[in-house]
Amino acid sequence: MKKTLLVALLAITTLLCGCSERQQLKSSLRKALTVAVAHEKAQAEYMLPIEGKIPKSYNGKEVVTATPRDWTSGFFPATMWLLYEHTGDEQLKEYADVFTRRLEELKDYTGTHDLGFMVFCPYGNAYRLTGDEYYKSVIEQASKSLITRFNPTVGCIRSWNTKHKTPELDFMVIIDNMMNLEMLEWCGYHDIARKHADTTTKNHFREDNSTYHVVAYNELTGEVVEKRTRQGAADDSAWARGQAWGLYGYTMMYRMTNEQRYLEQAVKIADYLIPRLPEDAIPNWDFDSDRMLKDSSAGAIMASALLELYSITHNKSYLRIAERQLKELISDEYMAKQGENGYFILKHGVGNLPGNSEVDVPLSYGDYYFVEAALRYLNL
Ligand code: GLY
Repeated sequence: MKKTLLVALLAITTLLCGCSERQQLKSSLRKALTVAVAHEKAQAEYMLPIEGKIPKSYNGKEVVTATPRDWTSGFFPATMWLLYEHTGDEQLKEYADVFTRRLEELKDYTGTHDLGFMVFCPYGNAYRLTGDEYYKSVIEQASKSLITRFNPTVGCIRSWNTKHKTPELDFMVIIDNMMNLEMLEWCGYHDIARKHADTTTKNHFREDNSTYHVVAYNELTGEVVEKRTRQGAADDSAWARGQAWGLYGYTMMYRMTNEQRYLEQAVKIADYLIPRLPEDAIPNWDFDSDRMLKDSSAGAIMASALLELYSITHNKSYLRIAERQLKELISDEYMAKQGENGYFILKHGVGNLPGNSEVDVPLSYGDYYFVEAALRYLNL
């Protein structure tokens, strides 16, 4: 009897400690989001006179900007939409709208597979939060543009435009492309989105459930020609952000479709990732590289995906890792103070190390997925 009482007391104490830790993290995240709002507003004020451009990074001296056609263009306005949702601050809404409208031309752009990132992140959040049909019409037109890149023989949407000397042997599909399927599912292009996801499940993953970055197909026969990398350390290595896109992409596909196979794939990716994360849970830029350089963007994407996966599976190990990642991302090591990071929220992102581009810098997509993860946590 005494022993049962002791066990019950211990269980209650553990539960209370867990709850108070959770409350503490929530309170720290709210504070971090207040800092994030200040960064984003300062960024918007800085960018307003720079017509036609969107901020994407910081080179230590000045904000690096992008044109709407850069794959990162949607993240800055999308982050402001999320922060508007969190605060109800009308000024943020105004800025979010201005920078979202800078991207309208993308609705007719067929030269990229990244329209999900570029259009659905800003316009999707804008429509969700305002119900304004203008935003929806842009999303619908962008989806029509995106499906022009689908090849039924390959069963995928083309990612990069080929530069190969035998073009038909180089229909390139990258794991990142999973992220563009949310917009297609939302617009009702279920067959295309699911075919792409199923082909990716078949061809992109290794025995250990890590993913290749690039799979090149023969576009005339649909055969796999080659599996390789561009942003990872080696063809057979596990580029951290690629693993994060896969995790997020399949978790999202389960949410959008309720198809068990996507949840199974997401769980396999999580089970590959989690044991390979370091103590602070922020991954090295590539899991198989000896060159140590953390990628905060991969950490933020993983945290957001793991929180969604936790809300579906109730597997606490996903929650615990996401909590560790969030705690780390709001520490002084990663979270920027005003004036030190070109108005971006997070430090230490790695864009493309082999290309020697955007190494150890802030990245607009790291900021977006960090804010999304923080809000997911606050809303658990
Ligand atoms: N989609 C490009 C990247 O993750 O760097």
